[in-house]
Amino acid sequence: MLKLGVNIDHVATLREARYRGRERGEPDPVEAALICEAAGAHGITAHLREDRRHIQDRDVWKLREVIKTRLNLEMANTPEIVAIALKLEPGIVCLVPERRQEITTEGGLDVARQWLALRDTRQRLNDAGIDVSLFIAPDPVQVEAAARVGSQFVELHTGAFAEHFNRKRERQEELDRLLAAAQQAHAAGLRVNAGHGLNYQNLGVLFQVPHLVELNIGHSIISRSITVGLATAVREMLVLLEAYLA
Ligand code: PXP
Repeated sequence: MLKLGVNIDHVATLREARYRGRERGEPDPVEAALICEAAGAHGITAHLREDRRHIQDRDVWKLREVIKTRLNLEMANTPEIVAIALKLEPGIVCLVPERRQEITTEGGLDVARQWLALRDTRQRLNDAGIDVSLFIAPDPVQVEAAARVGSQFVELHTGAFAEHFNRKRERQEELDRLLAAAQQAHAAGLRVNAGHGLNYQNLGVLFQVPHLVELNIGHSIISRSITVGLATAVREMLVLLEAYLA
């Protein structure tokens, strides 16, 4: 079955809007993670940014301690954050761009330009028993570079697909790019995740993309939780995921 990783960054964003610099405050992303797990989510995703704009260090340590599924730590390839990841030992790390020069025009990590540095970090994380994913645009150059880096996963950036969802021709173009990238990655031995901008409306169309292992979804689930509650929002998404045939 296609897996769901719930990105809880937005819970921390709301907390920081009121309690920045304080040791506690609501809503608590760790409590949210436990509700997501209890509702059936297969994993929890959190991005420890260099600027700590939402998730804080204490959040990732607590998540590591209490969640029973797997923690997907999104992070930039910087010495400080890599050192934290090596100590934290999340189940998987997804390397993402945080600075302009690391980003391709489509918003994914520019693996082709940084592949030596990424290969080195991938090796160190793998040596510590941590799987590695690279967040990339559905671009053949980036998929090929990811295979050279030797990561276990790629996460295909679905932002452009989501952005163009209401324009039929552009949506089809983005879908075709995702389809080709998933096939290329699978053929190269990479496992394929996807995320960014996915919601209750656009998933059905995305399901034409083959070989998907896991989707990482944040904004739409956390937004829906305001009206129906977090457990229901997660369960509704899981019901949609059941329609995916790999
Ligand atoms: N995947 C990655 C790599 C992300 O950085 C994010 C958050 O931007 C997501 C998935 C989730 O995106 P969204 O909040 O739009 O669902």
